[in-house]
Amino acid sequence: TIDRPLTGKMAIVTAGPTIEHIDPVRYITNHSSGKMGIAIAAALADAGANVNLVLGPTSQVSNHPGVTTLPVQTAQEMFEKVTSLYSAANLVVAAAAVADYRPVNIADKKIKKGQAQLHIDLEKTPDILKYLGEHKVHQLLIGFSLETDNEREYALKKLNDKHLDMIVMNSLADAGAGFNYDTNKVTLFGKNGMERSLPLKSKLEVAKDIVSAIIELQHA
Ligand code: PMT
Repeated sequence: TIDRPLTGKMAIVTAGPTIEHIDPVRYITNHSSGKMGIAIAAALADAGANVNLVLGPTSQVSNHPGVTTLPVQTAQEMFEKVTSLYSAANLVVAAAAVADYRPVNIADKKIKKGQAQLHIDLEKTPDILKYLGEHKVHQLLIGFSLETDNEREYALKKLNDKHLDMIVMNSLADAGAGFNYDTNKVTLFGKNGMERSLPLKSKLEVAKDIVSAIIELQHA
């Protein structure tokens, strides 16, 4: 149908932060609220898609009837949930801020305060989006890129290295953009050379623009 062009499509959206446990009390995380990904999930559902929202720990919720929320905590759990759904998916939008490192060992008891300095060894978490790119069959893959500098160069490198169809660049250097705001300022880069810079607008409007670009990619 014309107004719901993603009818019959299954979409996976990742959103929010992940948390990586240090001990039963403490963890490593980041500032993602999940708002950007929740808005994209809603816009995809409005376009007719059946959406699975794989959401890290946040107080934000999705209320859209077309969106099924699948809560996860760690990068490993997000990886397992997303990969279990991947073969049935037509498209994936990765808006989550996944922790890149996690503690090598999780202490099973609270670490006691003692030494002046405490060292925690970290190891890489799985790169979910990179894995999806390497195992792509027919899915459209849309990533995000969040940086503080060299934004364009890093975004284009991720587009290429992760075998994405499109990447959404946002920068912490732009006022009103990035974590937790209700607004964002993004530039879209397609693998075909498409480049579209959007002005600062609400995350709901940004989400609609991203979904329009996804619908165009589908027909390309
Ligand atoms: O949640 P909000 O408060 O609304 O904020 C929105 C946002 C700033 C979190 C969002 O717009 C955003 O930029 N999300 C991506 C943040 C990020 O971690 O970007 P990155 O450049 O480090 O990662 C590149 C891409 O790889 C992302 O699509 C990310 O989801 C994915 N990735 C990264 C690491 C990893 N281990 N697995 C991944 O899948």
